[in-house]
Amino acid sequence: MISVKSNRLFIGEVAASDLAGKFGTPLYVYDEETIRSKVRALVQQVAYRPLKVYYAAKANTNLSILKVIRDEGKDFLGIDAVSPGEIVLALKAGFRPEQIMFTSTSVTDEEMKFAMGKRVLVNCDSLSQLERYGKLNPNSSVCFRINPDVGAGHHSHVITGGPESKFGIWAGDVGKAFDIAAKYGLKIVGVHQHIGSGILETDKFLAAMKVLLSVINKHKGELKDLEFVDLGGGIGVPYRPDQKPIDLAGFGAAVSSLFAKFCSGFGRQLTMALEPGRFIVAESGVLLCTVNTVKQTPKHRFVGVDTGFHHLIRPMAYGSYHPIVVVDRCTSEKTEKVAVCGNVCESGDVFTRDEHGIVDRELPSVKEGDVLAILVAGAYGFSMASNYNTRQRPGEVLVNGRDVRVIRKKESLSHVVYGM
Ligand code: LLP
Repeated sequence: MISVKSNRLFIGEVAASDLAGKFGTPLYVYDEETIRSKVRALVQQVAYRPLKVYYAAKANTNLSILKVIRDEGKDFLGIDAVSPGEIVLALKAGFRPEQIMFTSTSVTDEEMKFAMGKRVLVNCDSLSQLERYGKLNPNSSVCFRINPDVGAGHHSHVITGGPESKFGIWAGDVGKAFDIAAKYGLKIVGVHQHIGSGILETDKFLAAMKVLLSVINKHKGELKDLEFVDLGGGIGVPYRPDQKPIDLAGFGAAVSSLFAKFCSGFGRQLTMALEPGRFIVAESGVLLCTVNTVKQTPKHRFVGVDTGFHHLIRPMAYGSYHPIVVVDRCTSEKTEKVAVCGNVCESGDVFTRDEHGIVDRELPSVKEGDVLAILVAGAYGFSMASNYNTRQRPGEVLVNGRDVRVIRKKESLSHVVYGM
């Protein structure tokens, strides 16, 4: 677990400052027990069976983390892969082809052929993709994604239902999907939706679920091969101090009972699938960095660190809030309002910001050399990192109790300088 003991931040049994001292910063650190406990909680609280949980690998694709998820999830866990790269990673982590689903958008024939070659089920995102899939692989099994015209999420960029969203087959057009499937002899084994990311209220999830289930009910006749309904991911986690975690027990009970009721009307016990990414890994990860600059303008006291939006883009991309602590002085009587900024050469590279600009954060007085931890960084942190400004991506370590394992080495200069 990630905890504060004697005012110091610990990951498992290891002090964050010891990790920074040993491995240097910037550094992503993950707590294995947190990941395992999230997998366990989900499988326990969502009581409906048969249940399949496709972990959305895009949240964190580190191979060692995928292996932890596979190990903890046993047969409940599979992988939602969005690219050939994620399919390869999932197979390498030990997931079997039938535990993986390829759900992407604007997909090429080559990508579909790749998935087919690996015996991975393709989830079609458009009528056009379904038509091309039918030509490539007639008389095979397929899944397709519906846009239920209900969306939700922490930011407009991650809402994936409704007319502003490029995803899925519009629910009203689903009849055309059945025509295409019939033309190519496709067996529709799954129907899927994902309405968005960072949802903390069960109601929104249920509203979209009801739309999807009613579409399926309406087309019962065409769905005689249906084996599973995938309700998507999107379960949020709290980032801000005033946010509460989703009521997982309430969520699990509500989706389970709604789905069970639907199945009894449908006449068959179908598998219910979920696709959480963030929920499983976000709270396991922290990004450690070191303060190297403190400077003042008439408006802000800037605290400059040795990482930036090339390593954690969420504040810059969505104005997202991430808690930040000084690892060896988590609280202090002496505090100051500061803007924690990165080392990328753009003014937007500030970790303490919202969509509109800088929002100063009250932290214990900070000096150069202090190590900071940016918390709740396990999802969409490293996986969205880049080499912008020709900088290396950081290393990653996994902590399990007292054990510390390097699960990705920090990149060297030759990673970023082609031909070096
Ligand atoms: N299934 C599909 C089809 C998805 O597109 C996604 C996420 C998920 C499942 C998992 O969603 P989750 O449970 O992690 O919310 N970079 C953004 C999030 C983008 C999510 C993209 N799709 C962020 O940092 O907030």
